[in-house]
Amino acid sequence: MTRPRIICHMLSSVDGKIDGKALQPMTRKGEYEAVAAKLGGDAWICGRTTMQQHFAEAEPFVSKLQKPAGPQPVFVARLARSYAISVDTLGKLRWLSGDLDGDHLICVVSERVPTDYLEMLREKNISYIVAGESDVDLRQAAQLLGEHFDIRTLLLEGGGHINGGFLQAGLVDEVSLLVVPGIDGRHEIAAVFDGVAAEHHTAVSLKLKSVDQREGDALWIRYEVVRP
Ligand SMILES: NC(=O)c1ccc[n+]([C@@H]2O[C@H](COP(=O)([O-])OP(=O)(O)OC[C@H]3O[C@@H](n4cnc5c(N)ncnc54)[C@H](OP(=O)(O)O)[C@@H]3O)[C@@H](O)[C@H]2O)c1
Repeated sequence: MTRPRIICHMLSSVDGKIDGKALQPMTRKGEYEAVAAKLGGDAWICGRTTMQQHFAEAEPFVSKLQKPAGPQPVFVARLARSYAISVDTLGKLRWLSGDLDGDHLICVVSERVPTDYLEMLREKNISYIVAGESDVDLRQAAQLLGEHFDIRTLLLEGGGHINGGFLQAGLVDEVSLLVVPGIDGRHEIAAVFDGVAAEHHTAVSLKLKSVDQREGDALWIRYEVVRP
């Protein structure tokens, strides 16, 4: 078993909503990152929507060939001390380079990704993993991240749907929440975990690891996920 330990680290309102902009007035600058640094991650991973909002180019990649790549070997452009990882089923995200805030970029895609998308990644020295036939197979991807990049602790940093995907796949080992003193209350806003299938009707059980009262009335809460 070579998959990394996966810690879901999120900034949240008291009602579990994760719109960082709405929570800005009650969040101390740099606090989320300062707390994340204490978790000892050697990589962080985000869903396509979050990557699109905060890190990728505005315009999506448009395939000229529209030819699905099918199964592919892992492409290791280089090894690094820390990694930024995107989960992007169809290869929509366009990147300027293989570095994101100083971390080497790894793109996790499905076999439906177009061949010319993978070609673009290789040209830019961006590493990639193709896992899953129609959707990204998160379990296989996690395994390959450990095997090929030696990632030991992976910080799962949202948004809600990718967190829900990892949770449903039984891949979340710990939850680290920075709860700031604010209530959002809007129905349409993403929550810490979203989109878990209806048949998973029993809540995932957690064991409290620590609670740390931070400046500005924030709480940093760490829970270990209890395996059934
Ligand atoms: N407060 C915080 O700490 C924090 C942190 C991060 C983000 N956010 C906020 O969260 C919001 C975005 O959250 P979101 O839930 O809408 O999007 P998200 O989780 O960032 O991205 C979801 C997308 O990831 C892709 N994906 C690939 N494989 C998946 C899988 N197995 N399961 C689930 N998704 C998969 C899907 O897009 P494709 O099918 O196209 O691949 C899916 O639509 C933004 O407002 C962002 O600012 C807050």
